[in-house]
Amino acid sequence: MKARVFSGVQPSGNLHIGNYLGALKNWVIIQHDYESIYCIVDMHAVTVYQQPEELRSKILETAALFLASGIDPKHSAVMVQSSVPAHAELAWLLTCVTPMGWLSRMTQFKAKAEKQETVGDGLFQYPVLMAADILLYQAAIVPVGDDQAQHLELTRDVAQRFNSLYGDTFVVPETKLPTVGARVMGLDDPLKKMSKSEPGAGHAVALLDPPGVIRKKILRATTDSQPAVDYSALGPGVENLLNIFQAFSGWADGQMQSHFSGMRYGDLKKQVAEMVISHLEPFQKRYHEIVSEPGYLDGVLRDGAARVSPIANSTVELVKRRMGLYVPS
Ligand code: TYM
Repeated sequence: MKARVFSGVQPSGNLHIGNYLGALKNWVIIQHDYESIYCIVDMHAVTVYQQPEELRSKILETAALFLASGIDPKHSAVMVQSSVPAHAELAWLLTCVTPMGWLSRMTQFKAKAEKQETVGDGLFQYPVLMAADILLYQAAIVPVGDDQAQHLELTRDVAQRFNSLYGDTFVVPETKLPTVGARVMGLDDPLKKMSKSEPGAGHAVALLDPPGVIRKKILRATTDSQPAVDYSALGPGVENLLNIFQAFSGWADGQMQSHFSGMRYGDLKKQVAEMVISHLEPFQKRYHEIVSEPGYLDGVLRDGAARVSPIANSTVELVKRRMGLYVPS
């Protein structure tokens, strides 16, 4: 039996090239080496307020973006978190073995809580739901961007704590980061991670941005006061542009250096923009084909949920038995 891979994306905001390079691209590459489950985590999205109509449409948009990236729904299960109730059920059981101290150390919680007037308890429990997503399927590998590494450490800690309290139950998952593109930075501020929730018009290249908009955003990206690429003293803005180019092109380090050393920033930006556009144009064409087929996405999501539900339900049953909860015979 192949080992299992699980990962997810929140259907909030506009997915950007950071989400693609940090996650989706690698999901596609490894999908056939594993039994793969890719999830639209709508219950994570509602840990901060979402306009309901918008959330509904973003869920389908996110599913279509998964498929446009090259996820093959005949092989990989593509599913929505809330359509498999076992995610919430296991999350509750895991909250009972997760010390509050572990959760209060989460940097994403601190950063998100600062932006909210009222912090829902769900935002605090967010990493436990994420642990439940992964442990529910006994996933061995979780491909994510670098910003999720702390949540993955917590998942491993929760799994180990449960296993030591109740006996070996969960596979302890490995984090899989891409070698290039694990942390794409904002174009307007290369010291900040590119993020779906950051408002600025020049911050992120969205996966559905038209070519003209992509070009404009990249040509305006923040660099530094040097005129040209100097590999012995790369500023964060230039380094980010080079990383974006390398992650899309797949070029080796040596090829990157010999091509870009001494190149003026204006030319570097033009080449990065054309590289991004050449990948996103066919991607967007596939996206539009997928969303124009009535009922297709609903079918994929229904099938995905039906395929994973037996795995999820059997894990919940095992966990209940281990903890001594009532399981009818
Ligand atoms: P989310 O929706 O914020 O991001 C989805 C994926 O994109 C990666 N990512 C990035 N990678 C590189 N550079 C960036 N600037 C960048 N921004 C985002 C993220 O690391 C992630 O892989 N908590 C998760 C969703 C989740 C999940 C899970 C992931 C819920 N349950 C179980 C894995 C397994 C999140 O908010 O991702």
